[in-house]
Amino acid sequence: MLTVKNLTHWYGKSEKPLYENVNLSFESDKVYTIVGSSGSGKTTFLSFIAGLDKPQKGDIFLDGTNIKKLGATNYRKHKVAIVFQQYNLLTYMSALDNIMTALSVTDSEHKGEKQYALDALKNVGIEKSDAEKNVQKLSGGQQQRVAIIRAMLVDANIVIADEPTGNLDGENSKMIIKLFQDLAHAHHKTVIIVTHDPEIADHGDVKISLENCQFVVA
Ligand SMILES: Nc1ncnc2c1ncn2[C@@H]1O[C@H](COP(=O)(O)OP(=O)(O)OP(=O)(O)O)[C@@H](O)[C@H]1O
Ligand SMILES: [Mg+2]
Repeated sequence: MLTVKNLTHWYGKSEKPLYENVNLSFESDKVYTIVGSSGSGKTTFLSFIAGLDKPQKGDIFLDGTNIKKLGATNYRKHKVAIVFQQYNLLTYMSALDNIMTALSVTDSEHKGEKQYALDALKNVGIEKSDAEKNVQKLSGGQQQRVAIIRAMLVDANIVIADEPTGNLDGENSKMIIKLFQDLAHAHHKTVIIVTHDPEIADHGDVKISLENCQFVVA
């Protein structure tokens, strides 16, 4: 379980904090969706729980251990996987090599298992011939599926996504949502998605809205 305690954050000299004293818990086996107006601080919040940045006040615990204690590098490498709107794939290599690199960097138990990576890609409709092409030759939806599969295969318990369906059509968005649900419900991960899309938000097990500097659980 990921727990946020007494989180307060403001940027620079701004008079008003983005949020104050936030307390929230995220359990495994669940998809959480976070909505909120532009500039309300959603991406900033994700950067804290992903260990990419530190809030002005407050702490984040993974299964009771402060992530400061786990160490930022260890936490980012082994505990969380992040999916961005812009896929965040290594653009100079193939889909297959993106997955293989992630397995290797995170010291996964499947490190070096090419067939394992190919099978996973095939499961989301990416055949070997496409898997071996440079990722930039794949469509937006295919690239996003590669990014999600990559998050699925590394052994991270927490999967965080910022607008993962931002520029995808309805069909691809549906497939992506299904993948996230699968990550939570079949692979027992904690999935946290920020989205502007109300339809995606409704597919979360828990819907959170960031309004008036507070996170409100629906
Ligand atoms: N590094 C930074 N330094 C100063 N201010 C920042 C920084 N990053 C974000 N902000 C400000 O903090 C506020 C929240 O930004 P954030 O990106 O978290 O919003 P958001 O909810 O993700 O918005 P959007 O829906 O448009 O992606 C905005 O007013 C933004 O300008
Ligand atoms: Mg944002």
